[in-house]
Amino acid sequence: MKNVIRVTGVGSYLPSKILTNEDISRMVDTSDEWIQARTGIRQRHIAADGELTSDLGREAANRALAAAGVKAEDIDLLVLATATPDHTFPSTATIVQHKIGMTGGAAFDVGAVCSGFVFALSTADALMKAQGYKKALVVGAETYSRILDWSDRTTCVLFGDGAGAVVLEADTAEDDAQIGILGHNLRTDGAYKEFLYVDGGPSSTQTVGHLRMKGNQVFKHAVVNISSAVQALLEQTGVSHEDIDWFVPHQANQRILDGVAKRLSIDSSKIVSTVGKHGNTSAASVPLALSEAIDDGRVKTGDMILTEAMGGGFAWGANLFRI
Ligand code: UT7
Repeated sequence: MKNVIRVTGVGSYLPSKILTNEDISRMVDTSDEWIQARTGIRQRHIAADGELTSDLGREAANRALAAAGVKAEDIDLLVLATATPDHTFPSTATIVQHKIGMTGGAAFDVGAVCSGFVFALSTADALMKAQGYKKALVVGAETYSRILDWSDRTTCVLFGDGAGAVVLEADTAEDDAQIGILGHNLRTDGAYKEFLYVDGGPSSTQTVGHLRMKGNQVFKHAVVNISSAVQALLEQTGVSHEDIDWFVPHQANQRILDGVAKRLSIDSSKIVSTVGKHGNTSAASVPLALSEAIDDGRVKTGDMILTEAMGGGFAWGANLFRI
């Protein structure tokens, strides 16, 4: 028998306010046609005044717990990915820990920007296997609306707010069983900081700052980097691209999703795409997309799920699991 970590519940939350491309075209010099043609985005959700990243994370976490039938007090590990924390410290993870009524264990944030969920899932999986945690929450939660420069049309049209969460549970299985989390591939290259960063921070400017991106430079690296991480992951796990039931990528741009799927020979009918409705919700986008595909009946227990993400750092990577 071997130890396995299973994904047993998924939940998500989107703030109620929707900002359409038409709405943004009244704020900056852009158009619904340009945004849809270049990105596939039609609308995004925006957190209400006073609604914090931890509030979005709490709601997604509670929904994931309900889906798994697990109580907050039974969770012994919470790993939260965000680039838009409530405060410089404490971690947003500990704030969510308190808000959901999780009284023990450990909670901490992971910072890998748009790849945050991919890195957080890997971190939780590794800690559960190495240190015996039994039940974990992995949360991606973001309020990018708070770090956007709403006068910069090259970035403000792209992002949205939201949160997604998964419950992980430790289990045992036959040695040859291909169930639960099968593997991860994580990569970074700090040489590319200037292509995607926030121009503020406690140590540099003592301000929060705004997101700055050379989108076409990020785009250029995205398809190649993501495909390379996925190829390595498939090789390391011995899983073929034909075994993938659902491809649940980071939702930055429909053209990137399609480009990666094509390069990996994944049929377009297997792509879960929410970018049109959510925009880019950074660390929240993968669990949000997974949650939607479970809720609408596409993803079923036993399906093989491939995730991927790429963003600021650059940081990129992929996860593979049977749900
Ligand atoms: O999750 C983090 C990772 N982020 C990403 O993966 C984002 C990756 N990048 C992208 O998705 C795309 O590069 C963008 C959607 C950001 C931009 O698309 P693009 O096809 O790379 O366009 P571009 O940046 O090369 O700009 C083309 C033109 C420029 O005008 P000129 O210089 O050709 O006259 C821009 O000024 O489009 C202009 N432009 C806009 N026009 C109308 C840029 N933003 C807008 C806009 N509305 N919102």
